Amino acid sequence: MTTTMTSTPSRYPQVYADWRVDPEGFWREAAREIDWVKPAVKVLDADVGVFGSWFVGGECNACYNAVDRHVERGRADQAALIYDSPVTGAKRTYTYAELQDEIATLAAVLQDLGVEKGDRVVLYMPMIPQAVFGMLACARIGAVHSVVFGGFAATELATRLEDATPKVILSASCGIETTRVVAYKPLLDEAIGLSRHKPQACLVFQRPQYRAALVDGRDRDWDEAVSEARATGRRAPCVPVAATDPLYILYTSGTTGRPKGVVRDTGGYLVALKWSMGNLYGVAPGEVYWCASDVGWVVGHSYIVYGPLLHGCTTVLYEGKPVGTPDAGAFWRVVAEHKAVVLFTAPTAFRAIKKEDPEAAHLKHHDLAGFRALFLAGERADPDTVQWAERILGVPIIDHWWQTETGWPIAGNPLGLGALPIKYGSPTVPMPGYEVQVLDEAGKPLPADTMGSIAIKLPLPPGCLPTLWHADDRFREAYLTTYPGYYNTSDAGFIDGDGYLYIMGRTDDIINVAGHRLSTGGMEEVLASHPAVAECAVIGVRDSLKGEVPCGLVVLKSGIARAPTEIEAELVGLVREKIGPVAAFKLAITVGRLPKTRSGKILRGTMKKIADGDTWSVPATIDDPAILDEIGDALKGRGLGG
Ligand code: COA
Ligand code: AMP
Repeated sequence: MTTTMTSTPSRYPQVYADWRVDPEGFWREAAREIDWVKPAVKVLDADVGVFGSWFVGGECNACYNAVDRHVERGRADQAALIYDSPVTGAKRTYTYAELQDEIATLAAVLQDLGVEKGDRVVLYMPMIPQAVFGMLACARIGAVHSVVFGGFAATELATRLEDATPKVILSASCGIETTRVVAYKPLLDEAIGLSRHKPQACLVFQRPQYRAALVDGRDRDWDEAVSEARATGRRAPCVPVAATDPLYILYTSGTTGRPKGVVRDTGGYLVALKWSMGNLYGVAPGEVYWCASDVGWVVGHSYIVYGPLLHGCTTVLYEGKPVGTPDAGAFWRVVAEHKAVVLFTAPTAFRAIKKEDPEAAHLKHHDLAGFRALFLAGERADPDTVQWAERILGVPIIDHWWQTETGWPIAGNPLGLGALPIKYGSPTVPMPGYEVQVLDEAGKPLPADTMGSIAIKLPLPPGCLPTLWHADDRFREAYLTTYPGYYNTSDAGFIDGDGYLYIMGRTDDIINVAGHRLSTGGMEEVLASHPAVAECAVIGVRDSLKGEVPCGLVVLKSGIARAPTEIEAELVGLVREKIGPVAAFKLAITVGRLPKTRSGKILRGTMKKIADGDTWSVPATIDDPAILDEIGDALKGRGLGG
């Protein structure tokens, strides 16, 4: 089904064609929107890096581009950051000048703690302004930040500390979830205890909801350190870095428990984000842009912090949920109160609102006159939710598709270029920079409307990952070897006759739970570590709110006399303890056997179809078909499988 939003023809076909004719010219032109200390010698150098590098020879600073240049050019008194926290009742606006002062002072503190250009700094923080100051303070002095989402447990944090080897960690005493205070600092202490790498120092922001104990000789109180630096008037200047230097590392789920350290280089990222703000999101400098995600995810990096600020917008930092803080009208309140013209969130947030307030009664209390569009990403935007949002909001609802790896959207509907007609279930068309193809198993392009693996022709555009942190080989193996000449997205789908993309699901063991990307392989490793478990499989089961939730099927070792329900409860607790609450692992089911192929491969796909109540057939390679009936019965016993 198609809806048309505009009668003026979109400039997209021409812009995309221009990029195809002269990709380097296209990005050279886009790079004029960024302030360079030294312009690039080569826009694309095919001989540098794993598949080539963007803006080689160029030098710039991300913080200067996001903050200082706006202060210098008339935006000093404009709101840069609005912190809105329904979970604490706090609200605070920082102008660009105030933001610059906070960042430059914190950057001086980091320097005092020994942080230099190229050093890593890990942030384990809730959605408070200090998290944004921390990221930009690192960027200011050329340090590489790595933000770890607060919903991850100590073990996950420890893995990231070992890989990123940070000199300093920035953290806060606690985060606040709808109904509970989550003490971060004890988790941080535990993670440092577990990690073979120890940081030189931790800077801890104490929140009134929970005061953490500081470790002598290692931990410093954030406020004290910043006040001291401020009292002596110390502010760190922006340090020029190479365009190809890493701005940050962001860990994301791979197919095993070992996360991948996605590297983001500096110059290309700034260029791509700046291009996307006007052309894709259709916002103008000075307008308010709200991305309701978390700084722990790529969406938060790109569209809470860097994108809106690079563009001179006001960004909203929202510490709350779509429902329960206090009600399903929270998003409308924030849009209306801060006059956001665009909201970007995950479909799951809208499913949560729809479930609680199907008629959107809360909307009546808020004036959304200036609101222009809702952007959705992070998981498939189901047509029901898109149509509901369209009906209640009366603005374009734009699905767009991207990954932690790409840093900005691969496909979307470019509002700034004039929107294309929407087709429900499709994130529309590839953005300039991305040549997207659907391939068969042999890597041959498939005709329109045929499902296959989605791949992007190399080189990836500016903004996308140049490699994985200290792991070029893993990068090649994971993304570039399956289809030579292409980046394998590990998403499956098709392209229709009009060139619209449809993203139908992952081809690997990654599931999407409430817009959060999780590895079933990682959860299996945790389940397998329980002494009573002989073998296990974790599948993503369809869920009306979260899209998918994990379900673990476990076979116990013979001779285990304990009640299975007791062990199942332990397994739920173990995943929460080892991976974190964000895994939303609530369902472990004991079964007698797992279905396998004759070569011993567990048939997870078939079990998923049974659990989802979809039609399924017995795979020809199955060892013992009777096991599928046993699995069906076990799933039915827990209300799954229709
Ligand atoms: N720190 C500590 N714990 C966290 C956390 C954080 N930053 N974020 C989430 N958690 C916890 C939650 O409290 C919850 O714990 P519980 O099992 O004790 O209830 C668990 O992790 C799962 O969290 P979540 O998946 O967020 O579920 P929820 O029930 O709290 O909320 C939604 C459901 C749909 C409202 C929520 O997931 C949401 O707003 N999603 C939007 C997703 C999003 O922004 N994705 C980013 C990509 S665009
Ligand atoms: P993340 O790296 O957390 O951003 O997750 C990336 C994955 O989320 C993609 O590989 C897709 O599987 C899924 N995804 C993100 N956006 C969309 C979308 N608009 N439609 C379908 N799937 C999406």
